[in-house]
Amino acid sequence: MESAFRRAQGSGAALDDGISGLAQVLYLMYLARARKASSIAEIGFNIGYSSIGFLESSPQVKVTSFEINTEASVESAKEFIDSRYPDRHHLIYGDSTHTVPAFQVPPSSDGFDLVFIDGGHDYPCVKADIANARRLAKPGATIVVDDLTPWFKWGIGPTTAWDEAVRDGIVTPLEYMSDAVAVSRVQGPAERAWAVGQYR
Ligand SMILES: C[S@@+](CC[C@H](N)C(=O)[O-])C[C@H]1O[C@@H](n2cnc3c(N)ncnc32)[C@H](O)[C@@H]1O
Repeated sequence: MESAFRRAQGSGAALDDGISGLAQVLYLMYLARARKASSIAEIGFNIGYSSIGFLESSPQVKVTSFEINTEASVESAKEFIDSRYPDRHHLIYGDSTHTVPAFQVPPSSDGFDLVFIDGGHDYPCVKADIANARRLAKPGATIVVDDLTPWFKWGIGPTTAWDEAVRDGIVTPLEYMSDAVAVSRVQGPAERAWAVGQYR
């Protein structure tokens, strides 16, 4: 995985350019393994770090990513992933608020086992992504929402949308992580925080 990371860094994006930290990627890898997830969707591919984590979790895993950015860094990361994990990654370009509702789960599948919401961070987008990804997920699928850090401006949308999904009974919270430590409630200060739940 380290070499995959180095290769992704070489694609022109800065290390802090919207990527998950290594600790989070390792967490996602172990989570996918623990939940026996073989079909995974992520909204927000960027340069593929979280995809690499999921693909490394098991040779059986297939990942579908939704990404709005078509810059060279994204294309380069996609080429790298295809060379390293052939036929296991599908990238759908476009605004997730349109592409996720338009996505058709193949008739041979009963939906994704795990979805990772890490695309647009404004409240309407995260709210739509949580609701739209549910339609593509198996009943009881695992959901991870990144950036529950309302003390940063990019964390306000995910936090509000997550809290509403819990309040409205769309998800049952299972775990909160703050700087890669499990906590009962996310509180600042922390650099990174995310929530894990189960769709109801
Ligand atoms: C934080 S980065 C994703 C990082 C990635 N999950 C990882 O851990 O390596 C967020 C990504 O979401 C993408 N994005 C933002 N708004 C989006 C939208 N409406 N639809 C799809 N992707 C979007 C951005 O272009 C960016 O690449």
